[in-house]
Amino acid sequence: MERLPGFRDFYPEPVPTQDVWSADARNHIFAKWRLTARRYGFREYDGPPLEPLELYTVKSGDEIVGQLYSFTDKGDRSVALRPEMTPTLARLAAAHERNYKKPIKWFAIPQLFRYERQQKGRLREHFQFNADILGENDPAADAELISLLIDSLRALGLTADDFVIRLSSRNAWQEFFNARCSDQFKAYSFYQIIDKLDREAPAESAGKLTALGFSLSEVTEFIQGGKPTKELEAVLQNLAARGLSDFVKVDYNVIRGLAYYTGVVFEAFDKKGQFRAVAGGGRYDNLVKLISRGKVDLSAIGFGMGDVVLLELLKERKLLPRFDAGLDAFCLIEDETLRPESLRLVQNLRDAGLAVDYLFVPAKTDKQFKRAVERNAAHTVKVERMSDGQLALRMKSLRTRDETVVSLTDAVERLCRATAMQSR
Ligand code: HAM
Repeated sequence: MERLPGFRDFYPEPVPTQDVWSADARNHIFAKWRLTARRYGFREYDGPPLEPLELYTVKSGDEIVGQLYSFTDKGDRSVALRPEMTPTLARLAAAHERNYKKPIKWFAIPQLFRYERQQKGRLREHFQFNADILGENDPAADAELISLLIDSLRALGLTADDFVIRLSSRNAWQEFFNARCSDQFKAYSFYQIIDKLDREAPAESAGKLTALGFSLSEVTEFIQGGKPTKELEAVLQNLAARGLSDFVKVDYNVIRGLAYYTGVVFEAFDKKGQFRAVAGGGRYDNLVKLISRGKVDLSAIGFGMGDVVLLELLKERKLLPRFDAGLDAFCLIEDETLRPESLRLVQNLRDAGLAVDYLFVPAKTDKQFKRAVERNAAHTVKVERMSDGQLALRMKSLRTRDETVVSLTDAVERLCRATAMQSR
């Protein structure tokens, strides 16, 4: 039976074929995301993967609503698999914001589902690192968040030569729109056209803009002008103070496809322009109020960084480490009468935190040894009966080939020490 198109299988390394994904690489980026978020004082949250459909129809915008995996459940509820995390976060924050001091700094790594046309960098399921700050509308929060975005990419080995954050402002675009059109219902359609300018043929964009009463030339002129708004200036200064100016530039091509953004918006791109956006985000100061039906008013800013484009980029730049989850020890059982003692040893070593494996059923010594090598074990360990009848442990380093015999009582301590020395 085949997996569904746009969905992925994750295998441990070495992955068997080109069309499956590496579970080790995925864990590697999750670990870096978590570490960086914690360095910035963010706390982890999560929510359900299935939500009421209405959560997305309120304000995510037609594009994402058109991509929903939605259905009616057995209780006659209209539900959808989450296509993004932001509405869930708004719902969570609104429900219990009083329990948390502001600003709230939270992150999550949800799996998201969008019925998109499958293409490079776009699948029907992806994982997304979400980091958001709620309850602070000073641009200092925007800068902190953008700094976290930069550092989570730097933590993976990417530099200012590899990526750039393109900063823009929905306020600036809103002003542009208001000066030319008074029909707010057209604003979202207008943003959608701007969002796709880079990806669509100019004639197609020009036609759509004309239909709304705009011209492509005035739009292009505004983008090329690129004059930072006051809030963008503040963000740029804040990032300059951190020494991070090289990672950002003002670029009004960015506007963001989602409907709820209100102020500063941004996207992270690889500098060679080979891939789609690695991450995107911005301010959404009205969403919590909308989702809580006016009960809670919390300003917010956040971003989402997907694993698909990121892994493609890291692979292309050769920034993924070699993954061989080695073992600290492999227990050889040559004398089957000593299997109970060997199991006790394995248990003791595992209790001490070491990674240990062995074969479940009797096997020739060379087969066991071969498996130890395949599993990249640092040591083999073997319980042996000595000539005086006492039991002892023979441990051998597969790195240095040194062999020692120690008493069973010292076994755990000796192996822990040897493992610590080797990992230095
Ligand atoms: P988004 O721009 O829709 O924003 O997604 C953010 C990132 O997720 C994209 O830049 C891309 O890397 C990845 N992504 C999105 N869709 C797919 C897909 N079909 N396949 C693979 N990767 C994908 C949001 O989702 C906002 N909720 C982010 C946010 C958080 N804004 C404020 N807080």
